[in-house]
Amino acid sequence: MAVSFAGHPLFGAGFSAPGRFEADVFDCEVEGELPPGLHGGFYRLQCDFAYPPPANEWASGFNGDGHVSRFWFEDGRAHYRGRYVRTERLMAERAAGRRLFGVYRNRLTDQPEARGLNRSAANTNLVWHAGRMLALKEDALPYEIDPHTLRTIGPYDYCGALTGETFSAHPKLDAESGRMLAYGYQARGELTDDVVFYDIGPDGRIARELWLKAPYPGIMHDIAVSERHVLLPVVPMTTSRERLEAGEPMWAWDDRLPTMVGVFPRDGDASDVRWFQGPARLTLHFLNAVSEGDVVRMELPVSDGPRAPSQIRRWSFDLGSKDDRFGEELVAASSSPLARIDDRCLGHPYRTAFAGHRDPDRPMRADLMGRAAGFAANCWQRIDLRAGDVRTFFAGEAVSLQEGCFVPRGANAPEGDGWLVGVASNYERQASDLIVADAERMERLATVRLPFRLRSGTHGIWVGAEDLPSPPQEPAA
Ligand SMILES: [Fe+2]
Repeated sequence: MAVSFAGHPLFGAGFSAPGRFEADVFDCEVEGELPPGLHGGFYRLQCDFAYPPPANEWASGFNGDGHVSRFWFEDGRAHYRGRYVRTERLMAERAAGRRLFGVYRNRLTDQPEARGLNRSAANTNLVWHAGRMLALKEDALPYEIDPHTLRTIGPYDYCGALTGETFSAHPKLDAESGRMLAYGYQARGELTDDVVFYDIGPDGRIARELWLKAPYPGIMHDIAVSERHVLLPVVPMTTSRERLEAGEPMWAWDDRLPTMVGVFPRDGDASDVRWFQGPARLTLHFLNAVSEGDVVRMELPVSDGPRAPSQIRRWSFDLGSKDDRFGEELVAASSSPLARIDDRCLGHPYRTAFAGHRDPDRPMRADLMGRAAGFAANCWQRIDLRAGDVRTFFAGEAVSLQEGCFVPRGANAPEGDGWLVGVASNYERQASDLIVADAERMERLATVRLPFRLRSGTHGIWVGAEDLPSPPQEPAA
């Protein structure tokens, strides 16, 4: 039977239509001037849908197939490449000619042909570490892809050394030591309360692993790391066997539960984990953490619940106190749950954050943007977390910004000195742009104009050319 997305609640025209194509654009059209020092790849993932998922009330945009974009910058030029991650799931669906996997992370709703297959859609985040690029989804193990051709090499389990069944999409890279701190939750299988934590050396070998128990079955989408501690937040977006048996997606908000944060030394063991608690909070991504004496502080975009506005707040954990509650204070108004730092500072003292933001006081072309005018992020912010100062880049009246990724001007540039890159939906052109902005002045330097629409992205990373093997020679014609 032929494929049709017609009438599906997730998909309309324009930017909400499924992409379903792979492309190469050699020498993209550029307006403005790309900085000559910008040399390397900006890689991002989007959830693209090869086949329409169940068209029920549980349809989720995060249930699409992983599709990698690579923007390669060199000598003031930009080249684009986009490829699906060839997951076992995608290839099985292509063989069947239809969707086999059901609602979000609920295998009980899959078609019989999907039984026993790897459910990973590899659609959330990428990481480059120890010479490998991995495409990640937190319910399964990574897929390795070639950083230049984007060819899927296959599932990657660290040569059999991963003992858990899952690997989070937000491992932490310590730029100073070259180590990667990674973890998986529901790590002994779906709905289990087991969490595994790995310390992976710069050589890509797992130097140490730690197993611990989650306080309740909440989502653990990200962790934060300071120079001395790991912070493992669990928020009341929870799941149960009953939910899955009722055919519902994995997660639902339950504000009767507290927010719990496990804090333990980087070199500690399971008995060192101390759980702090606070009121129900909705948060998925964390900026960074700093340890000072007995106090550990982390900054994060967070809201009081699914319908409350997100803000950048600071949580503090006093390991010298008997009080197990964590403190919370407001740092800056910033409406997007997506916020990043200069990744070189991860696990170390820092003061700068970059965040998406929706400023309703800026002009917005609702006639062009339609429904998106109600939720699109139209600004990137640079936030000084110590002083609270915010500098803002406004992208335009008919533009929806995706996550901005910081690129340092050079290996030794000070924190925050460089560029912000990210994809934007340009509703006037009905095509996608990649914007390069100066990260200090928060002004646009260049816009790469793609001749087609990309779907909304999940996360992206920058990998400098100096960190990658040389790209294969690209034929110019
Ligand atoms: Fe994420």
